[in-house]
Amino acid sequence: MAETEPRADAVTMDKIVSLARRRGFVFPSSEIYGGLGSAYDYGHYGVLAKNNVKARWLEAMVQERDDIVALDSAIILNPAVWEASGHVAGFSDPLVDCRTCKLRFRADALDQSHCGRKPSKHPGETPDCDLTEPRQFNLMLSTRLGAVEETGSTAYLRPETAQGIFVNFKNVLQLARRKPPFGIAQIGKSFRNEITPGNFLFRTREFEQMEMEYFVPPAEAERWFEYWVNERFSWYTRYGIRESHLRVRAHEQDELSHYSSATSDIEYLFPIGWSELEGIANRGAFDLTQHTEHSGTKLEFVDSATGERYVPYVIEPAGGVDRSLLAFLVDAYDEEEVAGRERTVLRLHPEIAPVKAAVLPLIAKSDEMVAKARSLYEELRRRSVVEYDDNGAIGRRYRRQDEIGTPYAFTVDEQTLDDDTVTVRDRDSLAQERLPIGGVREWLGDALERPWRSPKAG
Ligand code: GAP
Repeated sequence: MAETEPRADAVTMDKIVSLARRRGFVFPSSEIYGGLGSAYDYGHYGVLAKNNVKARWLEAMVQERDDIVALDSAIILNPAVWEASGHVAGFSDPLVDCRTCKLRFRADALDQSHCGRKPSKHPGETPDCDLTEPRQFNLMLSTRLGAVEETGSTAYLRPETAQGIFVNFKNVLQLARRKPPFGIAQIGKSFRNEITPGNFLFRTREFEQMEMEYFVPPAEAERWFEYWVNERFSWYTRYGIRESHLRVRAHEQDELSHYSSATSDIEYLFPIGWSELEGIANRGAFDLTQHTEHSGTKLEFVDSATGERYVPYVIEPAGGVDRSLLAFLVDAYDEEEVAGRERTVLRLHPEIAPVKAAVLPLIAKSDEMVAKARSLYEELRRRSVVEYDDNGAIGRRYRRQDEIGTPYAFTVDEQTLDDDTVTVRDRDSLAQERLPIGGVREWLGDALERPWRSPKAG
């Protein structure tokens, strides 16, 4: 095994942005037109990794359980939904303008903002700063439906996926024949006119959420709240995030959203410091009650056996796909020296990694090696995302795979032509062993299912 020397905490947000760009995970959006602040497009590996995050979430929330069903609701809902949910009246951030530099800041986050004239200072800290009084700024993005511009045609792009779930409560209750406790899970895009987007994928105006609304008898709400905080914490560690970089933080009373009686955030130690990765909220009966009042449709549970009727309480684990992917990338990023040479490696959990294995003929000019490698690649790709690469020196090809986080590389070499064995190289330990080419597919299947722990966890 090669001699390796890991270095602690090499990761910065700039390094993640640069790797994501260089390797085609994430590009600034509309780049040829100068971009659009804090909007990003996902390239090939970004799409694959993001799909893996969503697939692991759906497995944990729906496939591996009896009590949760899936939903995919519309992004544009009847505007009355947002009146009832309280978003039209209350989904806002306090905002201040600076009359001098003409910039706009969140009044509650001045200490995280920079003065337009003197970026080393916070807004309000220089004698020239001239801030307005805070005013509420609604974060919903609006649009118009139909050809005629009338007041009545205003609609909103959803700021959370949750409301699409609440308005389908009755459908699921009846058609999926559920009784509390049961949940409805949804992944989809949400939109917020954030005043201070930034920090790469951490805060953008268009993002994907993974939300699950869990409907419970009111007396059980507290217990289920604790349960979901633990479940969701374990999901992140199950997919390799180091426990030392995760923590749970309960919201103070004055931080709670208008619908919540208790919220705990799962926070990750991003390069910008401890920040929210996912929130778990006890929404009580707020949403079902509001939608009952505004729609005139009773959203309650009636037990046909006992005649008991009640409005279930809701426990909501709400995470972000993009923000989770950012945490996975940050947690995986590593730099080390291998036999005197630098290597950058993404130590992603194999089930999150965009590509599971690379198949490499040692000598691209050897027709025999290429034929064997292509045939192995075609066999493996029927089950997993694998990559064939015969371009450039073998060391460069390994480094490319290391940077996109491919856990295994199978190399076809001279010996393969003699005895039909290949080498398999482990991304993390760099250990190499030989395997019969006919057993590679099964070996890879087993390897991808083995429990995995980040080598960065020590
Ligand atoms: N339904 C509750 C809700 O939406 P939230 O805390 O506002 O709660 C849940 O959002 C999660 O969605 C956050 O923990 C974060 O992961 C993600 N999220 C929220 N705003 C985001 C933004 N502007 N950019 C990226 N992700 C965001």
